[in-house]
Amino acid sequence: MDLSTTIAGVRFPSCLMNAAGARCVTREELEALGRSHAGAIVTKSMTVEPRQGNPEPRYHGFPGGSINSMGLPNLGYRAYAQLIPELRKFKKPVMASIAGFSDEDFVTIAKAINESRPDLVEVNLSCPNIPGEPQIGYDANSSERLLKRVRKVVSVPMGVKLPPYFDPAHQEKMVRVLERVGVDFLSLINSVGNGLVVDPDKECVVIKPKGGFGGLGGALIKPVALANVRAFWKLFGGRLPIIGTGGVVTGADAFEHLLCGASAVQIGTTLVEEGLGTFERLEKELAAVLEKKGYASPSACRGALREL
Ligand code: SIN
Repeated sequence: MDLSTTIAGVRFPSCLMNAAGARCVTREELEALGRSHAGAIVTKSMTVEPRQGNPEPRYHGFPGGSINSMGLPNLGYRAYAQLIPELRKFKKPVMASIAGFSDEDFVTIAKAINESRPDLVEVNLSCPNIPGEPQIGYDANSSERLLKRVRKVVSVPMGVKLPPYFDPAHQEKMVRVLERVGVDFLSLINSVGNGLVVDPDKECVVIKPKGGFGGLGGALIKPVALANVRAFWKLFGGRLPIIGTGGVVTGADAFEHLLCGASAVQIGTTLVEEGLGTFERLEKELAAVLEKKGYASPSACRGALREL
């Protein structure tokens, strides 16, 4: 089955791709994504300067999910700006994820990265793991100020990666911001920030940064991810493409994201745990679900979730 999808005019050969952060920091990892069945190459969220990230251990997988506090380890935007033109040889979209510690950072990176011509730019407003730095996406005014500046320097399709929201009022407020800015797609959601996982045997936290607090991912966050995909899909009347991220372990999970309104799906924890073979497995599983249900393509079931 053809699992391709189109987002903001960009065709993806498969609707399944990596989430920013999962196996996408180094040249080797990005090239491996290029050779894999991933439908795109999404870079790690890049900052102005290269970063080692937070002290280890900073990732912990457990049955049901993961907790991480990576702290944005990345090569710095200059390295990615050089790499992006080379990654085009894999003939699949390259999505540059950008982050920063000030509006100025975002603008500097966005300008330079836009010149390296990725197919899309994803503006990460939702990293929960930098000690002392809030998640920008929880502050509508700061988000609007920043996004308006970034929008001016990005000419390729520009999307925003948002944190999970737990109240419709917050989603509605962010929709008004995004409408005023004019974005081309959304990535929903980043990890559920500042969770805490405890090892009762050792009577200890499982990651070092921030006293053990970190972003939760994997199966346990799927209902939160689906709720955000569905809420934003409805608030935008199905007009804004959404990439669903969170809790995709099987093809059936990807199908649920599509039903809620996603045009594509990103894989984080499962990709980290299972490796690049994830894409081929999920492709087969998703195709089997769609065929069994009588859908001819991922777009045929987009948003088709029934309400009671
Ligand atoms: C990290 O590097 O800490 C994760 C990035 C993110 O959640 O945006």
